[in-house]
Amino acid sequence: MDGVTDSAFRHMVAIHGKPDVVFTEFTNVHDICSGRIKALDSLRYSEAERPVIAQIYGKEPTLFYQAAHVVCELGFDGLDINMGCPSKNVASSGSGAGLIRTPNLALELMEMARKGIQDWTAGQTLAQIGLKAKALEAIGYLKSGLRAGPIRKTIPLSVKTRIGFDRNMIEEWSACLTQGRPEVISIHGRTLSQMYRGQADWEAIALAASRIQPHGILVLGNGDIQSLGESAARIRESGVNGVLIGRGSLGNPWVFQGIPQIREMLQTEEFCAPPQHAPSLEEKFRIMIQHASLFERVNGPERFVRMRKHLGWYCSGFPYAAAMRAQLVRTHSTTDVINLVNQYQACALDNQNLEIPATITPF
Ligand SMILES: Cc1cc2nc3c(=O)[nH]c(=O)nc-3n(C[C@H](O)[C@H](O)[C@H](O)COP(=O)(O)O)c2cc1C
Repeated sequence: MDGVTDSAFRHMVAIHGKPDVVFTEFTNVHDICSGRIKALDSLRYSEAERPVIAQIYGKEPTLFYQAAHVVCELGFDGLDINMGCPSKNVASSGSGAGLIRTPNLALELMEMARKGIQDWTAGQTLAQIGLKAKALEAIGYLKSGLRAGPIRKTIPLSVKTRIGFDRNMIEEWSACLTQGRPEVISIHGRTLSQMYRGQADWEAIALAASRIQPHGILVLGNGDIQSLGESAARIRESGVNGVLIGRGSLGNPWVFQGIPQIREMLQTEEFCAPPQHAPSLEEKFRIMIQHASLFERVNGPERFVRMRKHLGWYCSGFPYAAAMRAQLVRTHSTTDVINLVNQYQACALDNQNLEIPATITPF
């Protein structure tokens, strides 16, 4: 998720939730190929996150060819093409969900990305595909943070999309996408026009799964899932191979805990979702501080403002949460967060005391 699932967040999710797979924020192919170092930040990751998939977007086929080389060179476990972003900047220029209107271009992008993966696997280097010196330097810098150089093996190509542009047209759209032979198609059950309004249409996702899977392509359903219990129910009802959880993981890396039990349960006829992990207040605060500290180390103190929304997301479901949230979104460092936690923890644990204590001072 753009602006959300950065490397620090994904690392937290990996160690506290262990999802089967994570995706980077979407990254523009133009930024990748021109070496805009700030934009390339979204392609940083840690080993703990694996398998980690790089998501890219854009609309120029040659840039998809080049970007696929870069994604492979950076050692990602897969390459995902965004064909679902509804934001005006992206979709109205013909990228993201805009591609639903240009199916031939969508297929061409898949073809070029696959060719890029194949040629890189066969030994082609970044210098050979004409990347500028600035891009090579930026990618070299990113590579220097990786544990080991990538192994030249073919990585899977996948697509993430929606059920249509301004109407549900998943039948035609999935028939088109299968021609591009991606390994996985992830479907968010809303149209572009819906943005995030209304409810995800899981019947449309189920229909798509039944049409796509006979081609040997896996289908991941997506939309409005808040827990692993809901994931299991969706998998059962819709027949998808798996689900993606987005907003349900905000301030809640624990949402992914228990996947092995769910997987086992899905093999049987019985259905009894295991209880969702409910972190104690101390655990919540500890993980919030850990996340803030990691974010600061990875991104530098000057970007701490971007951490504030995460702090707000952790802060719910306990006494004084709203008051604490209002202060957390004005913090500038992990030290500020620790100071606030120290002030609130004792008060929040005392459920009887419903007044905001005078000892809590705003920044
Ligand atoms: C702030 C935000 C940023 C998002 N950025 C991306 C993105 O970069 N790539 C992507 O495929 N989907 C992106 N999405 C869509 C989510 O991945 C997901 O499809 C959508 O939120 C529905 O799933 P959910 O109900 O589990 O959140 C974003 C959603 C939000 C709310």
